[in-house]
Amino acid sequence: MTWFYDPRRTYEDNYAHGPFGTFAEAAPGAPSEAPGASFLGRPVRSAFGIPAGPLVNAAYCAAAFRHGFDVNVYKTVRAEAHPVHPFPNTLAVHVDGRLEAGRTAPLRADDRLDGATSISNSFGVPSRDPDAWQPDMAAAVAAAGEGQVLVGSFQGTRPGSGVADRERAYVADHVAAARLVVEAGAPVLEMNLSCPNEGTGALLCFDTAAVARIAGAVKDEVGDVPLLLKLAYFGDDAALAAFVRATAGIVDGYAAVNTLPARLVDADGRQALPGEGRAVAGVCGDAIRWAGLEMTARLARLRDAHGPFAIVGVGGVLTAADAGAYRAAGADAVMSATGAMLDPGLGAKVRAQP
Ligand SMILES: Cc1cc2nc3c(=O)[nH]c(=O)nc-3n(C[C@H](O)[C@H](O)[C@H](O)COP(=O)(O)O)c2cc1C
Repeated sequence: MTWFYDPRRTYEDNYAHGPFGTFAEAAPGAPSEAPGASFLGRPVRSAFGIPAGPLVNAAYCAAAFRHGFDVNVYKTVRAEAHPVHPFPNTLAVHVDGRLEAGRTAPLRADDRLDGATSISNSFGVPSRDPDAWQPDMAAAVAAAGEGQVLVGSFQGTRPGSGVADRERAYVADHVAAARLVVEAGAPVLEMNLSCPNEGTGALLCFDTAAVARIAGAVKDEVGDVPLLLKLAYFGDDAALAAFVRATAGIVDGYAAVNTLPARLVDADGRQALPGEGRAVAGVCGDAIRWAGLEMTARLARLRDAHGPFAIVGVGGVLTAADAGAYRAAGADAVMSATGAMLDPGLGAKVRAQP
């Protein structure tokens, strides 16, 4: 089966010629149901869709909407153009059962993608220049039908060592990116704090004070437009509680979880993905479902004390039953990246659930 984002092609090839497979075909039939759910106060047919990543531009977002995914995230953009990591980016990751957080033993990864349910994604968060992505994101916003929502994901770029006040510049870059996404018309924002593929060990989401400063500045800029924070897996419960205490009054919700990092090697034990800073890459799919479910349940407990806020459950959702498990754990909305690539009919299946 050809995936709608085809890992056997380069990112640029996917961007220019995709989506592929089922998403390249006409929709299975015009959906007729009225919105029956809601997401951040907006009526939606189902609170289910595809998170930041595989929907690399408006053509992909429009296909996702047509095929029954109702809450979709446009792949993370930046305030300035940024290159993609060298090909390949997505490999099959052979993991027995679940991928433990903090695992140091390497995992075998290769291009045997048929039948794979856990994959790597190592793109380095590429972005086109805003002059190119803003009109395209506006087209993605316009592609949402009745009861559908496009979420605009963005992240800041760490300033180079030559920049005078790096902290201030980093905050300003987040604010600039958020402003550009709002200008493009996205009705909901998601700030990515959790990309493990940038070659830095320290994820922004583990620096609570910095996130509170950045989120406050972004919220001042965007006003009433809802803002979600995309989180990595927090191993430490006290750290997650402190993070939520510091940010729940600023933002409108949390999306968890991003990929879990692992060291990926080929059959000879050599680094599987080419280039510096890519020994460790983010792993998603079946092996990380436990982490997304656990984060959802922990955030739901924190919501009782520090809410209200929305929870978007992400990670390893391969079936409609998996989506149901996330709802049962406390998620207001559920998203699937790997699962949607493996089964482009997943949105319709979740919609059909009682
Ligand atoms: C091809 C691909 C690209 C991704 N790119 C991004 C990204 O740009 N920004 C982001 O916040 N997450 C990104 N992710 C992570 C997903 O949003 C999601 O958190 C992760 O894949 C776990 O969900 P899954 O198990 O359903 O794949 C990407 C995932 C995939 C598979």
